[in-house]
Amino acid sequence: MPSDQKPGTESSGPRHVAIIMDGNGRWAQARGRPRLFGHHAGAKRVREVVEACPSLGIKYLTIFAFSTENWKRTQVEVAGLMSLFRRYIAKETRALHARGVRVRFIGDRVRLDAKLIALMDTLEEQTCENDSVHLTIALNYGGRDEVARATRRLARDVAEGRLKPEEVDEETLPRYLDTRVLPDPDLVIRTSGEARISNFLLWQSAYSEYEFIDTLWPDFTADELARLCQSYGSRDRRFGAVKA
Ligand code: FPP
Repeated sequence: MPSDQKPGTESSGPRHVAIIMDGNGRWAQARGRPRLFGHHAGAKRVREVVEACPSLGIKYLTIFAFSTENWKRTQVEVAGLMSLFRRYIAKETRALHARGVRVRFIGDRVRLDAKLIALMDTLEEQTCENDSVHLTIALNYGGRDEVARATRRLARDVAEGRLKPEEVDEETLPRYLDTRVLPDPDLVIRTSGEARISNFLLWQSAYSEYEFIDTLWPDFTADELARLCQSYGSRDRRFGAVKA
């Protein structure tokens, strides 16, 4: 779904913020601890950020928890992350629901274990009526993989006569993406000083504003998010147009 904010009509803060939560490993290493220690500290930050969203006018928050490329990490780190996701979901479900947070997952579930998928399904179902904040967790997600999976579904619809090739355009294709019910992100933040997008929301972020900040994810705070939202408010988004 394209951003519903048009030039000149946007409210001052971002409505949809997407975050690449980077720097957990370096944060842990700087303390002489294993990388997983950093991921656990990073998970704690997610709660603080979700809680800050309503007062900052953020209706949609999308976070990059595990990429299609992260399987290349050591078996210990991958297993530790999967266990962290299971524990996070089991532990946070009640608090997320109590705060009226609607949770969705994007990404390919095929490589995830059955227990994790069951927890994801339950969290999505339990929170499906909530509307205070829409939290989307990208898990085994890659932008190119998402576009490839979407194209496969689209091609099937064409082959089976449900869609004509000439009907495929910028409005049709996003209806096949994992994010089909979400607006495009207004602001994408990446922590830890790396200035790249690493296969995150490739289609959806075509017109997003970007913030690359030095803070390592476990040190990221609600105050820093507020500062970035404020600075977003002073940007001039023209979506390719020229101001009259
Ligand atoms: C990148 O830091 C971070 C990840 C690959 C995992 C992100 C996961 C969390 C923040 C854990 C919690 C998330 C949820 C939804 C419970 P890195 O390991 O690449 O850090 P580095 O660049 O310093 O090595």
